[in-house]
Amino acid sequence: MKEILITGGAGFIGSHLCQKLLDDGHRITVVDDESTGARSNLERFLDYEQFEFVNGDVSCPDLVDDLVNEKDHIYHLAAAVGVALIARQPIATIERNIHPTQLILSSLRKQHEAGRTVRMFLASTSEVYGKNPKATWNEQDDLVFGATTKARWSYGASKAIDEFLALASYRQYGLPVVIGRFFNVVGPRQSGAYGMVLPRFVEAALRNDPLVIHDDGQQTRCFAHVNDIVNAVVRLMDEQDAVGEVINIGSDHPITIEQLAQRVITLAGSNSQLQYQSYREAYDDDFEDIRHRVPELDKITRLIGNPITRDLDSIITDVIADKKQPSV
Ligand SMILES: NC(=O)c1ccc[n+]([C@@H]2O[C@H](COP(=O)([O-])OP(=O)(O)OC[C@H]3O[C@@H](n4cnc5c(N)ncnc54)[C@H](O)[C@@H]3O)[C@@H](O)[C@H]2O)c1
Repeated sequence: MKEILITGGAGFIGSHLCQKLLDDGHRITVVDDESTGARSNLERFLDYEQFEFVNGDVSCPDLVDDLVNEKDHIYHLAAAVGVALIARQPIATIERNIHPTQLILSSLRKQHEAGRTVRMFLASTSEVYGKNPKATWNEQDDLVFGATTKARWSYGASKAIDEFLALASYRQYGLPVVIGRFFNVVGPRQSGAYGMVLPRFVEAALRNDPLVIHDDGQQTRCFAHVNDIVNAVVRLMDEQDAVGEVINIGSDHPITIEQLAQRVITLAGSNSQLQYQSYREAYDDDFEDIRHRVPELDKITRLIGNPITRDLDSIITDVIADKKQPSV
């Protein structure tokens, strides 16, 4: 049994990770300020003896020192997430994504110097590749960001700084860090409120409202079920060869956003129509998007095998069933 801290554990991925780690028999502490997540995502664990929820902000140094103490593993997921949120709140994005990572690493360094070594998973993102024009991306590829006048790049750039900090802490001080670059993760409990495409489409389809597609809908993404992702993350944390590495985590099966919308309408049995909206209307004049985003999975496959077990139709069906449930 391990003592585990999950930052951002009341969020979408964090709440599924809690379930997985509790099922595996560990003791879990979640810290979350409920800025985009909610305690209700953890409802069924709140009175478990081996589970603790702390409502707090991981940009607070004393809280971080306190929480890191006596832990074996830390999963650092807390961040400002979602294209819509990021385009509108670039300062908060940068602060929320860099400062807490710095604090956690410095706390881990103090523990390490005191003779206790704590392994850390850092949740990074495919956004760090920026708009690299390659058809598929591997972990050694260049980061190609747009101009600093385009606020959306602040998310990828801030996560890239997190990666630099974590890798430097590994090289300089021997802190065992595992860095996962998530591609599009979807599944039950994901909110559509911050621009995430699948929950937004499913919510609209269930109301028979138009599914609003940004741009021409020919941009492609690869969607993976959150259960596959959390299983992969936990296995990577137990894999010694993953320490000090940056690893793509996701599906490598692309679909256009227009095709995704059509699958959602079919599987939901909806009468919705497709409606097209420019990026300018959806975000702002400066918004820039990435046409294609496909990971190379050789590294993760070498470490733990291919993580993907669920196909897109079964994922969409799962999200539809979740959105049909009455909210708690
Ligand atoms: N969902 C995806 O497709 C995806 C893709 C790439 C990367 N990621 C990364 O995975 C992680 C989890 O993302 P998610 O989709 O579950 O998003 P989410 O918004 O549901 O989860 C983030 C959680 O962090 C909490 N949080 C934010 N700032 C905090 C702070 N300062 N102190 C305490 N709690 C704080 C939020 O309340 C929320 O519960 C993030 O680091 C994100 O960058 C997600």
